[in-house]
Amino acid sequence: MKAGLRTMENSGKATQAVLRTEHLTKHYGAVVGLEDLSLEMNAGEVLGYLGPNGAGKTTTIRLLLGLIKPTAGRAEIFGLDAQAEKVAVHARVAYVPGEATLWPSLTGAETLHLLGRMHGETDVAYRDLLVKRFDFDTSRRVRAYSKGNRQKINLIAALASRADLR
Ligand SMILES: Nc1ncnc2c1ncn2[C@@H]1O[C@H](COP(=O)(O)OP(=O)(O)OP(=O)(O)O)[C@@H](O)[C@H]1O
Ligand SMILES: [Mg+2]
Repeated sequence: MKAGLRTMENSGKATQAVLRTEHLTKHYGAVVGLEDLSLEMNAGEVLGYLGPNGAGKTTTIRLLLGLIKPTAGRAEIFGLDAQAEKVAVHARVAYVPGEATLWPSLTGAETLHLLGRMHGETDVAYRDLLVKRFDFDTSRRVRAYSKGNRQKINLIAALASRADLR
């Protein structure tokens, strides 16, 4: 992480630690991905995580999801260790990656159905409301959607999961 990584918090009562990192550090060989990040977010807060390209934002998220191992420090979500309890963490989190690979031959509707089943829980009525709000045509095949529309699929699936952390 380079200087310039900033967190921006707003609105909300601090009632429960949703995520916490302690001296979280990731080195990719000689490359420093993230250096000594200690951060806490509480229930009801919205966290904007900003920084220049290469600052370590994606590295932080991958560490929080337990997808990569920290070089030092630790990360937890809802008090669960990101490494040791990643399955339990994933059940409570919905995450939309910047670039997501979907199945080109499935339709939007089929993809939403599949993503919902993969997560385990979906609020179908809320999903359908989001489809309307986003003005999203679910009938086309994924390969025919523009990038923004492919992102909408992931956003709708993430929000409709009603995961505790979205
Ligand atoms: N798998 C990897 N192997 C080696 N270096 C990596 C790897 N992943 C990330 N890095 C390096 O770690 C640093 C942080 O990268 P990261 O992708 O976390 O930044 P970012 O803040 O998400 O950037 P962006 O705004 O461009 O998405 C960068 O110097 C990057 O080149
Ligand atoms: Mg990134």
